[in-house]
Amino acid sequence: MDEKARPVGVFDSGVGGISVLRELIQQMPDEDYIYFGDSQNAPYGTQDPEQVRQLTIRNVEYLMELGAKSVVVACNTATSAAVAILRKMYPELPLVGMEPAIKPAVLHKPGSRIVVMATPMTLRQEKFRLLLDRYKEQAEIIPLPCPGLMEFIERGDLEGEDLRQYLTELFQQLGQKPIDGIVLGCTHYPFARRMIQEVAGDQVKIFDGGEGTAREMKRRLKAAGLLREGSGRGKVTFLNSRNTNEEFALCEQLLRQT
Ligand code: DGL
Repeated sequence: MDEKARPVGVFDSGVGGISVLRELIQQMPDEDYIYFGDSQNAPYGTQDPEQVRQLTIRNVEYLMELGAKSVVVACNTATSAAVAILRKMYPELPLVGMEPAIKPAVLHKPGSRIVVMATPMTLRQEKFRLLLDRYKEQAEIIPLPCPGLMEFIERGDLEGEDLRQYLTELFQQLGQKPIDGIVLGCTHYPFARRMIQEVAGDQVKIFDGGEGTAREMKRRLKAAGLLREGSGRGKVTFLNSRNTNEEFALCEQLLRQT
């Protein structure tokens, strides 16, 4: 089989990585994609890092067995737990993970007050601490763990009153001082973006890392001579450890969501 014609593998703990898949398709419409969501074992962000590492390695290897020519770990939590070891295990594989988009937020408005929404595990990891250290002189960066938020997206609840209530209580922890930016440090959260914007207020600018990750994968594929161009339009195959019709319907719905 032509190496370039093999699919790009995309992995997340659930349906959140579809926010990254949308960006990948936008930037590389000629590629085929296999998206695997591990919804059965989600959430990852409140589990033990070693457990998340094992699950992530297993799922990336699964995508490789299915013929993926490259893999996007479209999950901040899984990236912080397992990408370093995966790079050592598979040095030849174009592998791209997620990073909370703190850099664009800081560059947008130096000296501003920026909240990073992510899973408790992402915010506890060394990778995040190093990222924080790199930018802490240039902005006031406030980590905001959001246990329970990804579950709304997994249920397909993107605009309900319960979600509004959850976010209102969450932001109350931040006190009265206004914030300038919010970084969505979990790939599920872009699907709640409208409600996050509504609750946080119009003056707050929201950043997410999906676009940068897709750009990086395109660069890596090109460098490896694996970028597929001119096929017309690629196709997307969804796989999910929950494996129900409802789950696949949700995947399709999120892929089409604007
Ligand atoms: N989508 C995942 C992330 O980007 C996390 C959700 C989970 O807790 O499993 O961090």
